[in-house]
Amino acid sequence: MLAGRRVVLGVTGGVAAYKAAYLARRLVERGAAVRTVMTDAATEFIGPHTLAAITGTRPVIDLFDADEVSPHTTLGRWADALVVAPATAATLARLANGLSDDPVSATVLATVAPVVIAPAMHTEMWQHPATVANVERLESFGYHIVSPEVGALAGGDTGLGRLADPDRIADAVAGVLPGGPLTGVEVLITAGGTREPIDRVRYLGNHSSGKMGNAIAVAAARRGANVTLVTAGPGIDHPHVTVVPVETAADMAEAAWRIAETADVAVMAAAVADFRPVVAIDGKLRRAAGPPSIDLEPTPDVLGGIAAMSPRPFLVGFAAETGALDEAVAKARRKGVDLLVSNDVTAPGSGFGTETNQVTIVLPDGSTEPWSLMPKSEVAERLWDRIAELRKREGTSA
Ligand SMILES: Cc1cc2nc3c(=O)[nH]c(=O)nc-3n(C[C@H](O)[C@H](O)[C@H](O)COP(=O)(O)O)c2cc1C
Repeated sequence: MLAGRRVVLGVTGGVAAYKAAYLARRLVERGAAVRTVMTDAATEFIGPHTLAAITGTRPVIDLFDADEVSPHTTLGRWADALVVAPATAATLARLANGLSDDPVSATVLATVAPVVIAPAMHTEMWQHPATVANVERLESFGYHIVSPEVGALAGGDTGLGRLADPDRIADAVAGVLPGGPLTGVEVLITAGGTREPIDRVRYLGNHSSGKMGNAIAVAAARRGANVTLVTAGPGIDHPHVTVVPVETAADMAEAAWRIAETADVAVMAAAVADFRPVVAIDGKLRRAAGPPSIDLEPTPDVLGGIAAMSPRPFLVGFAAETGALDEAVAKARRKGVDLLVSNDVTAPGSGFGTETNQVTIVLPDGSTEPWSLMPKSEVAERLWDRIAELRKREGTSA
């Protein structure tokens, strides 16, 4: 939750400094009041007037020549959260050692607010033992590090070290701020497509990318929930999301059932295999042996297991359908969920791997609410709004 919150953005001298403008814009769009502070080197890469125009206040670029007498302590006290993006290797080293000889490091040292740091540099600099040790030290201070990504770097190089996407950084800032509507709420989310081994190299799987479940996890964390994401897909890096990686439906059932015992809300967005090979061959099936015959058996019903718990969390199921809604309505009734999200994976822009989704909400009484095609992140936000309404009706607060 960034609306109405005060964020200090520290910018240091790397090529990615231009992206600080995008980050400032995202923070402002989400309702935060943003003030900026820059190192001398940062001003070589982005003009202070750009940040001033976006945030409405002039960046602090000189400790001894600023509007305030003591700009670092003023900003440090003003901040609800502080984010350094991009953070150079030099700045990481300074922060890890408590130095305060530039406007950014002095402000970080002068705050008790939560600190998010998004490093960006060449791969060699990021992987240097000095940087690795500095990052570990910063984590031990409780700072949240938004790891860099793989991509284009300065000078035409490609590799690990590119600044994380500004939206990811803004999410991390929202995540370290306490006080959203789901504060204190324990949320379990499943995501991704399970893989059921056939032999040591092959599996039965599905096309689920995990994007929808990840978006739901980020949205819950942004609202202050403590989220556990049990995923068979790629995880996410968020201070309020604990990722539990799993592979098979059985692994997912074991983890989800355990976590559901103490969860307030469970959103089951994973695409779980219904059947698995009875035997996973310990080796590799050979072409020369001819087409194999593979016997299948049912996997544990992850959603059904949680529906049968008493007491159980508020339960949201997902149904990937390939046409009419009748099956989803029947599933909502049969499974005993509080809300079912049905999506037609054959519809344009919808389903596996896409950035958008067109879903229909199905309630236990069989009523349906078709939502228009929208980004998965927006589906996730609206889903949490709908869950909040239904839980309120049930007498739960968030
Ligand atoms: C063209 C150019 C690009 C640079 N990009 C980076 C970078 O992406 N990350 C980094 O850690 N240092 C980078 N540097 C080196 C820093 O600018 C240098 O270490 C500087 O002292 C950092 O100062 P600061 O941390 O006070 O902003 C770059 C230098 C140049 C000349």
